[in-house]
Amino acid sequence: VTYNVGYIVGSLSQKSINRTLALALSRLAPPELHLAEIPIDRLPLYSHDHDPSFPAVAQELKDAIKASDALLFVTPEYNRSIPGALKNAIDWATRPKGSSVLDGKPAAVIGASPGPISTAVAQHHLKSILTFTNSPVLGQPEAYIQFTPGLIDDRGDIQVPSTAEFLAGYMRAFAAHIRRHHHDIPEL
Ligand code: FNR
Repeated sequence: VTYNVGYIVGSLSQKSINRTLALALSRLAPPELHLAEIPIDRLPLYSHDHDPSFPAVAQELKDAIKASDALLFVTPEYNRSIPGALKNAIDWATRPKGSSVLDGKPAAVIGASPGPISTAVAQHHLKSILTFTNSPVLGQPEAYIQFTPGLIDDRGDIQVPSTAEFLAGYMRAFAAHIRRHHHDIPEL
């Protein structure tokens, strides 16, 4: 059995260290997980005024999430929370009311920052949101990656063996989490 995992990068930056981390995670994932990015950079800001004529770009986001067996959030921390762009994407995914594509969707949260506390506070805010959206979130292991220059090369290879080993274990735990939860998805 293979699972399609959509990953959402919380940064809109072309040089995002979190997109680099996502690339590394794609390479480290066990073969049963197929990772593909779900972009969020073209979404307008959400307002419920859009609900009656839902924009195509937001419907594409929802369709991509629906087609994924699980979601991996790879996000920076902005001012000790999640970036507005990521919150905006989550808001789109849950609307119009009653048609959320996050309901029952297995998820995992990870992120990198140059700082020593890494993205710990943002990750906990995000896990709290995902509890509300009824998306079962991987609890262990937690992964707070302090991004030092050269940690991951341009091809997505992690240069520190202990970090590579830890992140490979993280992806194996995520695969087990998806196996446990993917029957909960209402559409399946
Ligand atoms: C940051 N940064 C940051 N880092 C952190 O560890 N905790 C924080 O609260 C913040 N706050 C914050 C706010 C804003 C508006 C910016 C632009 C940056 C630094 C951040 O970790 C750094 O810029 C990363 O490189 C962002 O990740 P990406 O975009 O490279 O993936």
